[in-house]
Amino acid sequence: MANQGINDPSNQPVNAGRRRFLTATTAVVGAVGAGFVAVPFIKSWNPSARAKLAGAPVIADISALGEGQRLVFEWRGQPIWVVRRSAAVLKALPTLNDQLRDPDSQNPDQQPQYAANAGRSLKPEISVLVGLCTHLGCAPEMKAEIRPEPFDPNWKGGYFCPCHKSKFDMAGRVYEGVPAPTNLVVPPHHYENDTTLVIGVDPQGAA
Ligand code: FES
Repeated sequence: MANQGINDPSNQPVNAGRRRFLTATTAVVGAVGAGFVAVPFIKSWNPSARAKLAGAPVIADISALGEGQRLVFEWRGQPIWVVRRSAAVLKALPTLNDQLRDPDSQNPDQQPQYAANAGRSLKPEISVLVGLCTHLGCAPEMKAEIRPEPFDPNWKGGYFCPCHKSKFDMAGRVYEGVPAPTNLVVPPHHYENDTTLVIGVDPQGAA
């Protein structure tokens, strides 16, 4: 059964760190109670089960993912963000290139080859990222709307890491002049069909 993730449509901070991500994830599951999500998810927190699953792919149901929304999944102990970007956000991406450290995704460690494109994605509208800052591993806040922000009056949507003020655009590309050295990581992934994403496995035949 596909994992439906944790819907995070509010653009609110996920958390300030990986440890806090784990805590919050557990809390959300707790709030759901003993429903259909709880059993398989809680099992994944059992150390021995987690060890077994350390390399396992995550089957992600993204059918409920609306424009501007984010789902959060866990893969190899990391938060994986799946975001459906609006046409306006996609249009803004190339306008940011001269403010970014690696606008063309030339660092091969940060994404698979098939995501080294303008949106750093297989599908233009859907972004899949490891939600950990490449500075010290905090979880940046999603600020998906194009509007002035206190940290950037010309903000075109993206992610902001409040601990040391790193900024990334909606493709996870890092801005110049911030502590984070590289773009956010794009994990291996592919689509089984329009609404099913497989996190942890490259598309068939991909390098
Ligand atoms: S961990 Fe993100 S800016 Fe320091």
